[in-house]
This record gives sequence, structure tokens and C-alpha cells, in this order.
Amino acid sequence: MKAVDPFDLVIFGGTGDLAARKLLPAMYHRHVAGQLPDEARIIALGRKDLGREGYLESIFDKSSANIGAAYFDAERWRDFAGRIDYLQLDASSDENFAALADYLRDASSRIRIFYLSTSPDLFAGICQRLAHSELAQPSSRVVLEKPLGRDLKSADEINACVETVFDERQIYRIDHYLGKEAVQNLMALRFGNSIFEPLWSHGKIRDVQITLAERLGVEGRGEFYDTTGNLRDMVQNHLMQLLCIVAMEPPISMDADNVRDEKLKVLRSLEPLTPETVIKNVVRGQYQAGNIDGSPVAGYLQEPGIPADSRTETFVALKARINNWRWAGVPFYLRTGKRMHDHVSEVVINFFGVPHPIFPHSQEAEIPNRLYIRLQPQEAIEWHLMAKQPGDRNVLKPVKLDLDLAGMNERHLDAYERLLMDVVRGNQTLFVRRDELNAAWQWVTPIMKTWAALDQAPEPYEAGTSGPAAAHDLVARNRRRWIEEH
Ligand code: BG6
Repeated sequence: MKAVDPFDLVIFGGTGDLAARKLLPAMYHRHVAGQLPDEARIIALGRKDLGREGYLESIFDKSSANIGAAYFDAERWRDFAGRIDYLQLDASSDENFAALADYLRDASSRIRIFYLSTSPDLFAGICQRLAHSELAQPSSRVVLEKPLGRDLKSADEINACVETVFDERQIYRIDHYLGKEAVQNLMALRFGNSIFEPLWSHGKIRDVQITLAERLGVEGRGEFYDTTGNLRDMVQNHLMQLLCIVAMEPPISMDADNVRDEKLKVLRSLEPLTPETVIKNVVRGQYQAGNIDGSPVAGYLQEPGIPADSRTETFVALKARINNWRWAGVPFYLRTGKRMHDHVSEVVINFFGVPHPIFPHSQEAEIPNRLYIRLQPQEAIEWHLMAKQPGDRNVLKPVKLDLDLAGMNERHLDAYERLLMDVVRGNQTLFVRRDELNAAWQWVTPIMKTWAALDQAPEPYEAGTSGPAAAHDLVARNRRRWIEEH
């Protein structure tokens, strides 16, 4: 594997969950793959006085567990850890930034990535201090974690501030769903083959469903989650980005702006929501106590750090429409939640059934074709078709054409591996541009406003189930069913 150019990865929020669970394991895998040049360094920053050894100890359990037993090797980890250093830094201290600048001075011309894995409230201040301490150089890049802001206004203010320091070409707004292998494959399938294009539109497609279901609850992130909620945590970013990839027109090339122009058009074609359509077409849920994998789990309100009267949503289901020539009349059903029945992320394209059934002996001849693009737990693409059952009669049965992604490669890169290497290489194709982000915030604004004005509690659902009854009604109204009910 070809090594990338020398770089420093500076992680603000280095003691946070994301660093230990995702960023460091991602860099470990790239280190083991031989993609990191000898000079590449990782500098984790945090407020705690841990020292380098203390830091390495503090992240070890989470990082090694997330690397996975099959890939973790103690010697390689020691070798990799040689690249990591830890500095104590308070994001509001000018002196601490001066000390950081001193620390980094010896290699000032190399690519320097500032990864802001902190609360978005700190983004603007950090960028200003990077500028004052002369750390924002033409070779610097800044990665902004999601959710970027709380609404359109705050996102725009943060972006405006970041852009006084960094040029748009240096800003990488990350949405790790775009780095997932199956999402790349969905683009490959759509734009690397000619057979899908004539099928990819209204008249052929009856509806599209996107589900991001998690079994996990809020996992010790109670305070963050309660002030964020599912709409900001999953819908405004991951779900809407997936929707864009499914619905976008073929870009003229894979260049960053060509791809992002097409995604932006999808966001701008979404039918705007009104208070009436929010009430009718958006379901907000919150989990109650239940069972996951046979073990009892607490309800959201009983989780540590959650106020007993919290109305924060842990589940959202909605129906969206894209008003353009390709998609007019096709409902897009989107759904995501915590503590659901399954851990599954998938896009399902439901095609219309045959216009005139001619196999009278087949009970199942009416089953329409369906394309599954599964992101999790196992990346897969399946085409569900009807075929003849062997025998002397013309009886059909459903079969699967399976694109065996697991068989193509020994190991699929984690989304963060790909995206971090893209930042080093300066490739912004899989990162969100400011106008896209604004369009996504704009579309969810009526949802936030209507919920605030209604002042109602979310619909309860039992942990370990597929969400509140209202989510089923949402699709049943149009004589549809969610994927798992088929
Ligand atoms: C993160 C959210 O962006 O995505 C988490 O903040 C969520 O709440 C996670 O659990 C899901 O990511 P993945 O890749 O595990 O599906």
C-alpha cells in the first residue's frame, strides 16, 4: 500500500469516546497496512493532566476492543503507540495554544490536520486560537465532527467563524456514514453499471426505505444525547446524506464539487415540511424499559444523566418526498432509533410488482423485486427476484442475487480509516460542503419548530421493538410495511 505524505493528526477531544473508539483504531489499521509514513504523528489533546503514559493507558481498553481481537497485536500496538503523544490543553487558554504551537514548530510545513471532536460550541474559538498561534497554515486542514451546530443559525455562525480562518478547501465536515464501504458500493452500483439507471426512478420504484436501527442506548453519553436528540444526532446528517446518495443524479465526475453539487440538488428538491405535514408525516419516539437480546434494559428516562421529565426523542420516522422529474410521487420512508429490535442499517428499494401476473400457481408471484443495500451489521447488496422453482410446473419462488462484498476483500476499511486518509490526501468528495449542511438544517427546521410549539411528549416505545405504533401507521396509511414486516 502506498504511504501518504507525512502529517500530524492533532485531536481536540483526545480523551473523548470517539478518539478511543474510532480515530485511534482507524490509524492503527492504517499503520499496520503500512500506509503511514515514519514521520506521521498523532497528538491527542485534552483537559486532563494525564501525561503520555497515562493517556495511552486510558484509551487502551476501548481502542484494543474496537480494533478487534482478530487484528490486535500487542507488538504492533506498541510500535503504533510510539506515534502518539498527549498534551494537556484547555481550549480557551491562549497560553496552551502557544505551547501547542511550540510543540509543533519543528515540522511546520507538513500536512497538519486539526480534528475537532469536541462540542460544536468550541469550534469557532479553537479555530480563532489556531489562527492567533499561527497554526492555521496553508498546509493545515480542519475536520469538524457532527452535529455541526444545533440549527441552521448556529451552524451558519460556526461555519462563518471557521471560514475566517480556513478556506472551504481546508474544511472537512465529516459524516462517517459517507465513508462506509456499502455507501461507496451503492455509488459504484448506480454509476458503474448501465442496467440500474433506467430502473432508478418513479414508475419503476414504488418506495424507498432507509433504516438506521441501533440496539444500543445512550451509552454513558446521557448529557450530550439529551441536549442533542435523534433528529440532530442521526437524521439531519447520516439519514439525509444516505438519502442524497440514493436519489442524486449521476455526477459528471467523482470530483468533490461535482458530487456535492448533485447531493445539494436533492436536498433542495425535498418537499418543504409544514407544521401540518410534520404532525402527519414525522413520528417522534422515546424508548421505555424493555428487553434487548433477552436482558432487561432501562428506559431512556432512567438512564444516567437524563432528566426524569426529558422529552428528547430517541427515535424518528418520517416520510419525505423529492419533487423533481426522477422522484415525483415516490415516498421515501426514513427511520432511525436507539434501543430498537435489531442493529441494522439498510436502504431498501422497493420496485413495483409485475403489471399482469401470469403464473397462477405461484402464491408468491406478487412479491415485488427489491434491492437491499445493507451497511450494517454485515455490508451486503442483495437483489430479490422471482425465479422458477425446479419441477414440472411453473411455480415461482423468491431468490436472492447476492453481491458478496465480504468475499471481495479480506477486510473492509472502517469508515474513519477511509475518511482520515482522504483528509491526508486532500480529497473532499466524501465530506459535506457548507451549502449542503445548510440545506439539510433548513429542511429539518420545521420539525424542530413544530415539536417545540406542540409541547408534547414523544411517543413511547418498548426497548427491543421496532419503534412506536405511530411509525407503523405512517407506512400502513399508504398500504406499505417496513422492511422487517415483509
Ligand atoms: C454517531 C451518533 O454519529 O453514529 C451515535 O452520534 C450513533 O449516536 C452512531 O450511535 C452510529 O454509527 P454506526 O457507524 O455505529 O452506525
